[in-house]
Amino acid sequence: MSVSVPIFLVLLSACSGFEFIHHDYKAMLDVMYDVHRRCPEITRIYNLSEPTAQNRNLTVIEITDNPGTHEIGEPEFKYVANMHGNEVVGRELLLKLMDHLCDGYLKGVKLVHFLVDSTRIHLMPSMNPDGWESAYAAMKKNNGTATWLIGRNNSNNVDLNRNFPNLNMIMYQHERDHKGKNNHLEKMEFALSHAENLQPETVAVMRWIAQIPFVLSANLHGGDLVANYPYDVTHSGKAQEYSESPDDSTFRYLAESYAFFHTKMATPSTKPCDMTGDDQFAKQGGITNGGAWYSVPGGMQDYNYLETNCFEITLELGCDKFPPASELEMYWEDNKPALLAFMIESHIGVKGVVKDNDGKAVPGAEVKLYNMSTGKEVYIPHDVISNANGDYYRLLVDGFYKVKITAPGYHPMSKCVVVENNNLQENMPLVEAHILNFEMVPDDEAKPKMDVDCSQLMEVMRNMVYQDEEQYDLTLLKSMLRQRLSDESLQELIYLMDQEQRNNQ
Ligand SMILES: *[C@@H]1O[C@H](CO)[C@@H](O)[C@H](O)[C@H]1NC(C)=O
Ligand SMILES: *[C@@H]1O[C@H](CO)[C@@H](O)[C@H](O)[C@H]1NC(C)=O
Ligand SMILES: *[C@@H]1O[C@H](CO)[C@@H](O)[C@H](O)[C@H]1NC(C)=O
Ligand SMILES: *[C@@H]1O[C@H](CO)[C@@H](O)[C@H](O)[C@H]1NC(C)=O
Ligand SMILES: *[C@@H]1O[C@H](CO)[C@@H](O)[C@H](O)[C@H]1NC(C)=O
Ligand SMILES: [Zn+2]
Repeated sequence: MSVSVPIFLVLLSACSGFEFIHHDYKAMLDVMYDVHRRCPEITRIYNLSEPTAQNRNLTVIEITDNPGTHEIGEPEFKYVANMHGNEVVGRELLLKLMDHLCDGYLKGVKLVHFLVDSTRIHLMPSMNPDGWESAYAAMKKNNGTATWLIGRNNSNNVDLNRNFPNLNMIMYQHERDHKGKNNHLEKMEFALSHAENLQPETVAVMRWIAQIPFVLSANLHGGDLVANYPYDVTHSGKAQEYSESPDDSTFRYLAESYAFFHTKMATPSTKPCDMTGDDQFAKQGGITNGGAWYSVPGGMQDYNYLETNCFEITLELGCDKFPPASELEMYWEDNKPALLAFMIESHIGVKGVVKDNDGKAVPGAEVKLYNMSTGKEVYIPHDVISNANGDYYRLLVDGFYKVKITAPGYHPMSKCVVVENNNLQENMPLVEAHILNFEMVPDDEAKPKMDVDCSQLMEVMRNMVYQDEEQYDLTLLKSMLRQRLSDESLQELIYLMDQEQRNNQ
């Protein structure tokens, strides 16, 4: 008997006791610490810098192969849920997700291993735990039926998704002036001392995203069923108007990725939440531009894009903001593939390290992108900045691009690259971003010779059939190239592309 007790305990501790219930603050922390106990090697729990107005901590679990540090070449990803305290589905989904990733890792599921080993994932199940408590109390008082608004705001009755500095106004002014920055628009110290009525939850998130170099994230809400992408604020100030960001096609791709892998979001037979048919989102693929739906100044999504390197979208997970616990498992099944697929999208595009010719990291270098897919050189006016270790990540949809790095004290440097995000290698569950490293030469030394001259590539592109934007299709381009190997210029292009690839391996 005395032997069977420890064995029983071992089995018990290896096993997840996850239940689909509405987890209150303490129960939420218990799930997080339980996951950490079962998967200590790949998890770390930490709290953001400020507690909420009612002194609850904003607690995050980090899931990755080496928790606690940023690793060069590993994109950082986050999910944030329950920013509106009465929109509770995301909170429960993230609790289940951490449990699922831990389980999958312990069981040796290949995709989970690949994802956890190559990505630094941060999950914050509740950004507004105070609001959740009052929404829950109101629901109980109301005999189990949730109310539409109680608990949406934080305990100071401020809507956190209207409380971020409105950087869109600065950005749109720069666009009109044709000058000024197109990223990292505001100094943190300035924002913290100048923004009006900033809430502790907002300050905590601002400091968090300034500190960790996130690449991709989603903000989980409820009350509708759609994946919403920037900009949220209209350019004209109208209440409703499509408001395109420089990365419109990449954002559309990202939102579509979530909607596509969700079992209902992009299914045309899914009924719109407002029965008037105003929001026929499913019929438009389950996605919407933020401004085209309704303008949201001070939201977290646009703030991420305009203040950091992070691309964020907003997910509305269902018509019911606070569904009965009995439905939570169904929500999990509906969202599970989408939640996983979206994290994998942090690996699209290009990434690399910017160093100088002494091997020293160059932080703060500007990474500028030019789209060359149609044979013209089109600047994408949203730069990303290299991190403290010199690494950078640039999410991109498929295409032919020039990447240009500029940093004070160095000669600018460009390389060309073909991005093919779905070029799956055998036995690989996901494709990592194309690697483009740069070795910068100080400007008091001779100008470096380019590995591959982008203009050469451009010349070849221009001579191809292939100038019409409508006809643009990368696979077509590649197969065309292969079929027409006899043509000298095309041979040269293939040679240059291959050389580029080798240089970057
Ligand atoms: C985070 O906050 C929670 C709740 O206040 C607390 O129980 C926990 O110990 C804190 N965790 C860390 C790592 O500081
Ligand atoms: C919040 O977390 C910090 C450490 O991160 C801890 O010192 C503090 O006691 C926690 N606050 C509460 C209310 O649990
Ligand atoms: C809740 O149910 C109780 C008992 O059935 C009833 O007395 C009370 O009026 C109900 N409250 C609400 C808000 O419906
Ligand atoms: C929530 O806060 C916003 C201001 O941020 C306010 O306009 C709104 O009325 C509040 N909602 C409720 C239900 O009080
Ligand atoms: C680059 O241009 C092609 C062709 O117009 C387009 O399909 C693609 O979305 C563009 N890429 C980006 C990141 O805008
Ligand atoms: Zn919301």
